[in-house]
Amino acid sequence: TRNGIDFAVADLSLAEFGRKEIRLAEHEMPGLMALRREYAEVYPLRGARVSGSLHMTVQTAVLIETLVALGAEVRWCSCNIFSTQDHAAAAVVVGPHGTPEEPKGVPVYAWKGETLPEYWWATEKMMTWPDGGGPNMILDDGGDATLLVHKGVQYEKAGVVPAFSDDDPEEWGIILETLRDSLAADSGKWTRIAADIRGVTEETTTGVLRLYQLAAAGELLFPAINVNDSVTKSKFDNRYGIRHSLVDGINRGTDVLIGGKLAVVCGYGDVGKGSAESLRAQGGRVVVTEIDPICALQAAMDGYEVRSLDEVIEKADIVITTTGNKDVVTAAHMSRMKHQAILGNVGHFDNELDMAGLARWPGVRRINIKPQVDEWVFPDGHSIIVLSEGRLMNLGNATGHPSFVMSNSFSNQVIAQVELFTKHEEYDKEVYRLPKKLDEKVARIHLEALGGTLTKLTKEQAEYIDVDVDGPFKSEHYRY
Ligand code: NAI
Repeated sequence: TRNGIDFAVADLSLAEFGRKEIRLAEHEMPGLMALRREYAEVYPLRGARVSGSLHMTVQTAVLIETLVALGAEVRWCSCNIFSTQDHAAAAVVVGPHGTPEEPKGVPVYAWKGETLPEYWWATEKMMTWPDGGGPNMILDDGGDATLLVHKGVQYEKAGVVPAFSDDDPEEWGIILETLRDSLAADSGKWTRIAADIRGVTEETTTGVLRLYQLAAAGELLFPAINVNDSVTKSKFDNRYGIRHSLVDGINRGTDVLIGGKLAVVCGYGDVGKGSAESLRAQGGRVVVTEIDPICALQAAMDGYEVRSLDEVIEKADIVITTTGNKDVVTAAHMSRMKHQAILGNVGHFDNELDMAGLARWPGVRRINIKPQVDEWVFPDGHSIIVLSEGRLMNLGNATGHPSFVMSNSFSNQVIAQVELFTKHEEYDKEVYRLPKKLDEKVARIHLEALGGTLTKLTKEQAEYIDVDVDGPFKSEHYRY
């Protein structure tokens, strides 16, 4: 704690560099800056206590300071152990008007290269406010903050935290330990926190899946807005964002030439489409794997070969997973890969790659090349290069998606926060999407920033296609 602000970041002296990059990013984030102007005198988030778990990058710094500009109090942590940009974290703590000696910003618990116990400690700190209370809003990416509250409430109700079984992933043991400690210290903490929460806004496909599962089981404790499925989020960030940051991560991690190489992209959803496009643009020969015939056919129509991983694993130079599913690349697959082939994941969690199985492979050796790049050598002497230990490599090996595309995503986040915070009594404990009109508003701001000219419907044309002159321009079932 310094100047009344509690925090845990790598180095506050990085704040000046962080502030310079935040200043440049603000210009590239016209949606967030427009929302700051629109709400300049209204402060719709006054009284909001936002606990946020989302990659602590420069772009996220602009999001955090937008929430503050709208009146919110904010606490933050990252949603991934490798994704924090330490200068951004420092700048957010120091704030635009503070100094490292006298910070005036926002409490942040995030640094690049956390261990898993440190990650869950930071998440709990982010959820626990200095007065002992909790947030009244959550902003989540992947659902870990939401998970902590829901599991906390469940175990407080049961009066006991279940035992860890050998079949559970290692990380689950850490979550259970965190909650066992908190139950021992205060048996009503999460129940009290949950009661105050007006809602959660969720950033990504994987977190949204968890929310729909909770809602279907009747276990969701507060309303949720699915930000991911705003069109201006998933059809832009997931696709055009990864088109930028996937290759950025491969380059910074390995500097290997992609041209001419065989690159396999597992999954052809929004993230897969952007991944395949960027690898092909570098001259890679791209092969796609899919389980869904519709996405597989899309890949074929886009000119990619569609194969099973088993058919191509021995030939691949680069394998990238984008599925949001588990065990997509097994340790047995890894053992069959070419010498020095590159393996990376950009799906939300690391379980797309069986890293535990790789570590258990008889006789395997791990050589750390540099942070977030490891060579795994098999007993026969051949090796593979694994990026970011199987975690989101576009954030671990590079700096994630660039500002302009994140401005689209984060504009939806801010609008969703305002909506749930100010109108929470209109929402049930279910998962909602933002209205299309707001989606179109976010797109309009960014189109204008790019200097595009939008064609205006005439009244007659609008009547002919049965829409309003000012939108929404599409029906709910339109797929873009
Ligand atoms: P999506 O649902 O559009 O695409 C996933 C695709 O993977 C689907 O088409 C599905 O049929 C396919 N798939 C599932 N299991 C498979 C398997 N075993 N083999 C091959 N294909 C399989 O989801 P989206 O939006 O593309 O997101 C994918 C993941 O990426 C999620 O975990 C999401 O949270 C994450 N994400 C990561 C970002 C990043 O910056 N790295 C940005 C946005 C999302």
